[in-house]
Amino acid sequence: MPALAVSFVFVTLALLLAVVRRVVDRKGIKHVRGPPSPSFLCGHEEAYVRQEEACDLEFKWMREYGYTWRTGGAFGTDVLTTVDPKAMQHIMQKSGYNYTKKTTSFHMSWLMSGPGIVSVLGKDHQRHRKIMNPAFSAAHLRTFLPLFQRVAGKLSEKWKADLMATGELNTMLNTWLSRATLDVIGEAAFDFDYNALDGGERSAISKGYKDIFKDVDYQLGKPSILFRASWDYLPVPLLKVIKYIPAHPWTRIRDLNNLYREYGRQILHEQVPVVDAEKKATSKDIMSILIKANSSENPKMRMDDEEIIAEMYTLTIAGHETTSTTLTFLLYELAKNQEYQDRMRQEIRSVRAQITARGGNQFTIEDLDSLTLTMNAIKETLRMHPIVVGLHRVAEKDDAIPLAYPVTSTTGEVLSEIPVRAGQVVFLSYAGYQRLPEVWGDDTNVWNPDRFSRLETGKQTNVGVFANLMAFSAGVRACIGWRFSLIEMQAFLAELLDNFQFDLPAEKVEIQRALAGIVMFPMVKGKESLGGAMPMRISLAQ
Ligand code: HEM
Ligand SMILES: *[C@@H]1O[C@H](CO)[C@@H](O)[C@H](O)[C@H]1NC(C)=O
Ligand SMILES: *[C@@H]1O[C@H](CO)[C@@H](O)[C@H](O)[C@H]1NC(C)=O
Repeated sequence: MPALAVSFVFVTLALLLAVVRRVVDRKGIKHVRGPPSPSFLCGHEEAYVRQEEACDLEFKWMREYGYTWRTGGAFGTDVLTTVDPKAMQHIMQKSGYNYTKKTTSFHMSWLMSGPGIVSVLGKDHQRHRKIMNPAFSAAHLRTFLPLFQRVAGKLSEKWKADLMATGELNTMLNTWLSRATLDVIGEAAFDFDYNALDGGERSAISKGYKDIFKDVDYQLGKPSILFRASWDYLPVPLLKVIKYIPAHPWTRIRDLNNLYREYGRQILHEQVPVVDAEKKATSKDIMSILIKANSSENPKMRMDDEEIIAEMYTLTIAGHETTSTTLTFLLYELAKNQEYQDRMRQEIRSVRAQITARGGNQFTIEDLDSLTLTMNAIKETLRMHPIVVGLHRVAEKDDAIPLAYPVTSTTGEVLSEIPVRAGQVVFLSYAGYQRLPEVWGDDTNVWNPDRFSRLETGKQTNVGVFANLMAFSAGVRACIGWRFSLIEMQAFLAELLDNFQFDLPAEKVEIQRALAGIVMFPMVKGKESLGGAMPMRISLAQ
């Protein structure tokens, strides 16, 4: 009942405010072409979240309307949707904080994590970012390589032990990888053992995070869509009551947050005395940085307990499932492309032979970087299967968004830029941009890592932080962990492909790219009760 009452009040208020705003501001982006909105209240939002295959809708629309078009948002609003690289560069990289997050998205992060880096805006965000940046410098990240290798080795040992008994392992690949990356982030960030690989089903934290995005965001119905869309019209302090709604998914979010807070306190409890005792004045690991920030004299470098725990929660959620799902899709593609899998394994083994010949026993960063086929497979997987398929931004000021690919307006005019008013919502489809034939070639819908050896990058609009991809986003809020993730993936792939052969399951299953909000994950078609799932047949590599 309270849930219904809160929803009703929120949606009614939002509807009123949206209508008022429409009457006051008639200009908008009506001259931009786009698919007709199927419903005044929900716009295209319901169709979008109910897509069977993630992003099929924008793949279709970009063929029909060009690379920038208009879709329907909730409450009769218009959303400017784009896959245009120049528009992305302008909004994410050149405008600083002038394009901000939608309340709906940063408040959802706040409900999950509290005041961490993903849920704070403007000056606060700048402060969080400044404090965290040193922990993610290229030099510092190198020191994590032995950890990545140790956890990858541990996963290997577990599979080998199972294979001794069975000869062939039919298992949920994503679950294993998710546990491994959870252990990695726990140790890298907090020197804490989440015990996910060893504990398996018994690891409370691994169980707590499992399928969190699916549980909260998958296949929302109209009432949920409208309730969440209403947040964009309401004052943020009022939204804090959502935390206490005694109904799904708010209870699920609260339970995970409570569980995490116990861990957070335990980690702080164990770490603070150590950091104090050792006076790690120069230490750059994430935990000591956060603890030091708590006692900083400089208000620009301060962070309180609430923020520290939120940061830990955020790193745990942002730093494990993203990487493990990307690896999952990569190994899935390798299972479908045996020829590439063989070549990749050969390259890994030949570099390994060189390492042995020089008396070494582990890959260095330079060795990993010399694995071109591995790096190309990572790039190609980030391109075709971006875990965050796109992001919304809201214009804070009136502006004009430039386009690399002009579009034709409803009156036949050619638009090489789109004027927008403050408050205009934009959706940047990263998945769509990463399928542009003009940028990636004609076979853009095929997983083909070799494209990265022949791409001419000089001619393209530069976007993103890596390989001209948007998968890690860009600009002031780009992924802080992108290098961390790359080295982690390189280390895991070198270990796993050297030792194992990956094949699709004998019994044919259809893998679906499912969407939870803007997060993509693999699912077995028709088996959504399994949650995120990627069944795989693993054996020892010849
Ligand atoms: C393949 C792996 C990964 C992908 C595809 C990915 C993608 C992204 C994207 C798209 C964003 C922007 C989100 C937004 O603006 O709302 C982001 C932000 C972020 N990522 Fe990643 N990420 C990955 C791995 C990691 C790792 C390993 C870490 C930590 C060790 C991490 C930590 C973060 C943090 C803290 C933010 C928030 C940055 C901010 O708002 O300033 N990510 N990531
Ligand atoms: C943000 O907008 C203001 C006002 O329009 C402008 O002066 C400023 O240069 C913009 N900032 C960036 C980084 O573009
Ligand atoms: C942060 O500072 C407060 C007040 O100075 C103190 O009570 C708290 O224990 C500190 N927390 C950490 C994690 O250092």
